[in-house]
Amino acid sequence: MANPGTHQNRVAVVTGSGRGIGAAIAIALASRGAKVVAVDLQPPTATVAAIGPAAVGVAADVSDPDGWSAIARAAEQAFGNVDIVVNNAAYYPNHSIEDLDLETWRKTMSVNLDAQFLSAKQFVPGMRRNQWGRFVGISSNSIGLTVKGMSHYIASKMGIVGFMRGLANDVANDGITCNAVLPGLTHTVATEAQGEEQRRATWQAQAIQRFAEPEEIVGPVLFLTTDDAAFMTGQALVVDGGQYRVG
Ligand SMILES: NC(=O)c1ccc[n+]([C@@H]2O[C@H](COP(=O)([O-])OP(=O)(O)OC[C@H]3O[C@@H](n4cnc5c(N)ncnc54)[C@H](O)[C@@H]3O)[C@@H](O)[C@H]2O)c1
Repeated sequence: MANPGTHQNRVAVVTGSGRGIGAAIAIALASRGAKVVAVDLQPPTATVAAIGPAAVGVAADVSDPDGWSAIARAAEQAFGNVDIVVNNAAYYPNHSIEDLDLETWRKTMSVNLDAQFLSAKQFVPGMRRNQWGRFVGISSNSIGLTVKGMSHYIASKMGIVGFMRGLANDVANDGITCNAVLPGLTHTVATEAQGEEQRRATWQAQAIQRFAEPEEIVGPVLFLTTDDAAFMTGQALVVDGGQYRVG
């Protein structure tokens, strides 16, 4: 892809970028000129190899405060101050309320939601100094749909929308925006467990009736992380082919 330079001189952290939607976001940000810090539980070697010298890989657990210190250190050593954080890593086991235990509830909250808070604690000071920053939290359109066995996940993904709204208020005067993106059912490892019939039932409820590829979730993330979206904050953008309609 030609480099239109919209993200030139920006340093972007993308969590869960070893595969799936996170990998697509990391590769697209790099294609626009960003330097990328690709984070996953295991070193995200395929993503780093796809990007080349504009990427550095970090193995870190985003639910762990020490993980965020390691991410910041790697970013600083490789590229400097972090301008963009895309919190995309997620934990999404399916359990009905009868089977859901406290440990699973807490792990879901810590991977999906604590990470958003920890990233803000880590990177807001540098963004304030630079008077520029972008947070994008990857939520899910399931917060508005009838999906069984996901009460913990839906709570955490609704929490991302709430945290982005609240954080937006605290950092607005320093050129920092905070928004959520809500993908619909997308073709990744996460959805491989679903049978063909279940997937078909979902995408047939969309206006655009097909299964999304990870690359189709990327555009709104690119937009939100440019200067073009500087006056847009505290918002939730649904990217699901027109399944869940807001307003
Ligand atoms: N695929 C879908 O249909 C869909 C739909 C709506 C929302 N989403 C959201 O999009 C995001 C990406 O989904 P995906 O389908 O690409 O998922 P995926 O499971 O394919 O990839 C997620 C990545 O996050 C990493 N990860 C998990 N826990 C981590 C942790 N504690 N620390 C660091 N990395 C961790 C995993 O190792 C994995 O590489 C998630 O936030 C998910 O909730 C996905």
